[in-house]
Amino acid sequence: MTSSLITVSYLAAAILFILALGGLKDNQSARRGNLYGILGMVIAVIVTISAFVTQNYTILITVMLIGGVAGFVLSRRVKMTQMPELVAILHSLVGLAAVLIGFANFLDSSFNLTGVEKTIHEIEIFIGICIGALTFTGSVIAYGKLSGMIGGNPLTLPAKHWLNLSMFIAVIVVGVQFVGAQNHSDAFILLLVMTLIAMVFGMHMVAAIGGADMPVVISMLNSYSGWAAAATGFMLSNDLLIVTGALVGSSGAILSYIMCRAMNRSFISVIAGGFGTTSGSKSKVSAEVQGDVMEIDVAETGQLLNKAKQVVFIPGYGMAMAQAQHAVSEISKILLAKGVNVRFAIHPVAGRMPGHMNVLLAEAKVPYDIVFEMDEINNDFPDVDVSVVIGANDTVNPSAQEDEDSPIAGMPVLEVWKSKTTIVLKRGMAAGYAGVDNPLFVKDNTKMLFGDAKASLDLIIKAL
Ligand code: TAP
Repeated sequence: MTSSLITVSYLAAAILFILALGGLKDNQSARRGNLYGILGMVIAVIVTISAFVTQNYTILITVMLIGGVAGFVLSRRVKMTQMPELVAILHSLVGLAAVLIGFANFLDSSFNLTGVEKTIHEIEIFIGICIGALTFTGSVIAYGKLSGMIGGNPLTLPAKHWLNLSMFIAVIVVGVQFVGAQNHSDAFILLLVMTLIAMVFGMHMVAAIGGADMPVVISMLNSYSGWAAAATGFMLSNDLLIVTGALVGSSGAILSYIMCRAMNRSFISVIAGGFGTTSGSKSKVSAEVQGDVMEIDVAETGQLLNKAKQVVFIPGYGMAMAQAQHAVSEISKILLAKGVNVRFAIHPVAGRMPGHMNVLLAEAKVPYDIVFEMDEINNDFPDVDVSVVIGANDTVNPSAQEDEDSPIAGMPVLEVWKSKTTIVLKRGMAAGYAGVDNPLFVKDNTKMLFGDAKASLDLIIKAL
């Protein structure tokens, strides 16, 4: 394959990746965006294989088959509720790949550069392995937290910020020694030392982040995996990998920023690690929720919905767990047919991954024009007759506004308690992901419909 054909193909693939990202900006164009992305990746893989891999096709095809089959089986088996942890573990593989390619590059004996070129290449290897190592271990810890294998509570070591700072300085010192190392074996040992420090740094950074702040971690690791891929592109002198990595890295960084804004957290503290947790001497204890819980049954819920003029459904993680999206879609159709103004309110971090609720509602064919983001609908709750909360908890927790000592204080929430009646569908009184009690459940105008969300909604359909 000629170099100009490679350049043109890579350019086409890069443009398709940009169009893919553009397509993902809203639900309607997302499918088209995915197709652009698939096409770009097919071009990228074919050109890379035919242009750069001239021997060992047997090994290449074998590993592609192993990876392809593993990916196919995983994607068929994974439940929607397990997507965040799958994304986290896939990020860890990008990080691991950057580490392995970095070491392979370093050990490649055929590689004999001198002068500035040598220094630049060593810096590329050093940075690539460093980002890769912290992405790898950080993502493994994120996987553990999201899948419930390790607890969601933040690890609060004494002087944790000093620990982070000293690891950062140690990496820089080792980096300077690595570039100036006199022989290959000294440099190799320094590279190993830095890899270990970066791995501990990645673990500590994610372990120090509390449950409610995990959405930001996911998008942040997404960004890191992009930069790890870009660094790998530099090591391999592959322009397309640099462009693609930079696209993932920067879009992940923008998503992290959006997530931080949605949760009213500071972006800088996230980058520094351990954000969203209290530090220093003052330990915060949120106020205990007191009051009586009022229960409601299915028949009464049906009557309230039948009488209502304005209804808003607020889905949360429990809807995903119960797979109740089709039932709620059915109810919305029945109410719309009766002339009720039906809308859905989506909190930016509802569920366990960005856009989680939107995907489920789209799957259940809920029309896009009745699905609203938090900012678009939050002021309308005082006019709403019935708000139906389906397995949401942290995202509708008034203590974010009412209790300044709450771990979720300051996080914008959907103000469902301002509607005339709020009906909460959940199985019991368990807390949400952040582990915070919810005073919504004891408000005068809140009624609890206990049970699995899908089972309750199926009964409501009959009642309507
Ligand atoms: P959560 O606060 O996690 O609450 C979900 C509620 O659903 C639980 O209280 C649970 O109560 C209920 N539930 C579980 N299974 C159910 C079922 N089968 N039927 C009915 N209810 C069921 O949900 P949320 O409001 O969506 O908030 C999301 C939380 O996850 C936030 O804290 C957010 O920061 C965090 N988070 C989000 C992301 C992203 S990117 N979205 C990523 C990681 C973490 P019962 O057990 O009593 O039924």
